[in-house]
Formats: sequence, structure tokens, C-alpha cells
Amino acid sequence: MAERHLNFDEIIDRRNTKCLKYDFAVKRGYPEDVLPLWVADMDFKTSSYVEDALVELAHQNIYGYTNTQTGDGFFDAVAGWMKRRHNWDVEERWHFKTPGVCFAIATAIKAVTKPGESVIIEQPVYYPFANIIKDTGRNLVISDLICDENDYYTMDYEDFEKKVVENKVKLFILCNPHNPVGRVWSKEELRKIGEICKKNNVVVFSDEIHFDFIWEGEHNVFQEVNESFREFTITATAASKTFNLAGLQQSNLFIPNPALLRKFRHAYNETGLDEPNIAGIAAVQAAYEHGDEWFDGVRNYIRSNIEYAFEYVKNELPGVKMNRPQGTYLIWLDFRELGLSPKDLEDLIVKKAGLWLDRGRVFGKAGEGFERINAACPKSVLKEALNRIKTGISNDG
Ligand SMILES: Cc1ncc(COP(=O)(O)O)c(C=O)c1O
Repeated sequence: MAERHLNFDEIIDRRNTKCLKYDFAVKRGYPEDVLPLWVADMDFKTSSYVEDALVELAHQNIYGYTNTQTGDGFFDAVAGWMKRRHNWDVEERWHFKTPGVCFAIATAIKAVTKPGESVIIEQPVYYPFANIIKDTGRNLVISDLICDENDYYTMDYEDFEKKVVENKVKLFILCNPHNPVGRVWSKEELRKIGEICKKNNVVVFSDEIHFDFIWEGEHNVFQEVNESFREFTITATAASKTFNLAGLQQSNLFIPNPALLRKFRHAYNETGLDEPNIAGIAAVQAAYEHGDEWFDGVRNYIRSNIEYAFEYVKNELPGVKMNRPQGTYLIWLDFRELGLSPKDLEDLIVKKAGLWLDRGRVFGKAGEGFERINAACPKSVLKEALNRIKTGISNDG
């Protein structure tokens, strides 16, 4: 059987499907007809192997309690992907399934910190990190990344360590690769930050959900940078970004330290959740077993979208800057040279350009003046969005 879903130019009407991206504009305060390029899912059909697995499940039409165990193919599919794609040998005893990565972050926070204790993140970063820390009653500590004049971001080790010590930080949520700034952290960068965490007894939750979208360099699994890092790391992976399966809520964690795994399991049990979602299991197994061709196709397509956007911004959008992301399908656009107030920038994007993007400010104060665009859409949609920004800016002037 061959892969059937390789036409990424196809426009699929997602409206009226209860999807967050298209159907919630009015509810979230945007005009009904905005063109949305915000939330990080794709406007592409996933692999036909996933479709076939879910059709088979639907044909049986029994959706009873479900789980996975050694030898039934699920773990082997996950491990096979990690080995093929990341040359990473994962062990079954490290493996823990959760309904999504955000759920895993909240669980990890409860597993390794007490209310009022400190959790550190590096902003600008995926905004649920800060929200979950606050929602769980923990103390949010922020170490901003350093942004140079080319919008290239690096970690501020000195500031990070100072804040870790001052706040007696217990947990660091690392974004690897980093959403929204698109950095693929090098071994050396991860080693440095990891050593600070090791020295100060900080557990690391390494969110590697974007790990399959690498444009420059290679993805480094944080816990493998130095074997000693396995002792204090929870690594989160998922097929949800890679194969556009976010609505099926299945992610795979790896926790090599048995004591840390026990703590995590305890916090998980306290949530009352038990068996995973039957459809998530079927889809992820099919994707990891048979989805290579689809994924290689989508990756090439998105890479060319990013390249298109880069040239467009350089040639057609004076006053707007874009540094090519090293990883992720997200573009981080810098509007600061236009000198607009936050409200005027919002008016430019929403009212003049008619777009719904993720405003930089939501990723932290350090994101002020930026907008994030999701490039995982047909090229015609991306072109339309960029043309609308151009028109919006011309009308502004
Ligand atoms: C860095 C990062 N972590 C986690 C998530 C969400 O993961 P999940 O849907 O599995 O909770 C996203 C989604 O955009 C993300 O960018």
C-alpha cells in the first residue's frame, strides 16, 4: 500500500469542524473572517496510514478500555521512530504515556514541586508553560533568552543560574527545540544549562515535541547530552506535531530514573486518569510504523514555505525582520522597527491585514513587538497572509 496523502497544496475546509484554529475567532474576540495562522497544528491531511488505522477501528465500532503492553507493537513503533529518526535508543522501562504534553507538564510540576515552590522557564516561550506553573500555584521564575541584532537567541546562563539559586528553583521546563524562537539547541548549549541544573538539583522537563522539524543542525535529546542528565530528566515527545494528531492527545515520555518515574506515576494517579485513548494509540502506532514517506513530504513542503516567507519578508516587508528558524514550523516575525505601540501592531495584524496570529507578547514580555506565524499550511495560504501584511503596512504608511 502506498501513501495517498502527499498533496500538500490541497485546501481543506476546516470550518465548522469544531477546530480551534478556524471556528473560535469570534469567541476569542477576532472578526469572523480572519485568516488564522496561529495555533500550532497543520492544515494538511495526515498520513493515509493513520486514516486506515482509524477506519479499521471505526469498523470494529467498539471503543472499550484500551492499553498497550510489551510485544503488542505500540512501544516498538515509538522506539523504532526514536531510533530511525533520532538515533536514540529508548528503553521500555522509561516509557510513560500521557494525554498530551501540557498534561505531562502539569503532572511533572505536581510530582517534583510543592505549592509555592519555584519553576523556571526561558521566555519568550510557548505560553502554556507560564500558565500551567501559575495555575498549579507554583512560583513562576523567568530567565529571558538573549536576542542579538539578527534576532538570534541564546540562553543567559548567568541570569539563569542566579535566578535558580535565589529562588531555590526545583524544576526547569526546557523547550527543545524552542517555540517560538526556532532555536535548535546545540549539545554545548544543552550541556551548559544541564550542568547548572545538575549542580543545583533542578529537575529538567525537556519538552521535545517539535524535535522532528529540524532545518539546521541536528536535534539533541537533552537527556543524552551527558549520561548523568538521565538522572534528573523527564523527556516529552509526541507524534502530535509531527503527524498533526493533536486532537488525539497521545504523548510519550521517557523517565530513566526509577525514583523520578515513581514520583511522576504517583502524581499521574492522583489525577484519576487511567487508560489512554484508544484512537490516539491506534493513530500514533500507524504513524510511527508507516508514516515516514508522508513525514518526509510534509517536512520538505514546510521547509520550502519557510524559505518562501524568508525571501518575501526580506524583499517585500520593509521594517519587518525574520531570522530563519533552525527548527519548528513556526516563524517568529519581528515588527519592532516599525515602532508601533502594542495596540497599533494588533490593529495592523487583525484589522488591516485580517489575520489571526499569535501575538508575541503572549510568549512573555520579551516577545513584545513580534508575531508568530504557523507555516504548516498550503503555500497559497501563506502567500495570502504575507500579502495581507504587506497591504496592511502600506495602508498604515
Ligand atoms: C512546545 C510545546 N509543547 C507542548 C505543546 C502542546 O502539546 P500537547 O497538545 O500535547 O499538550 C505545544 C503545542 O503547540 C508546544 O509548542
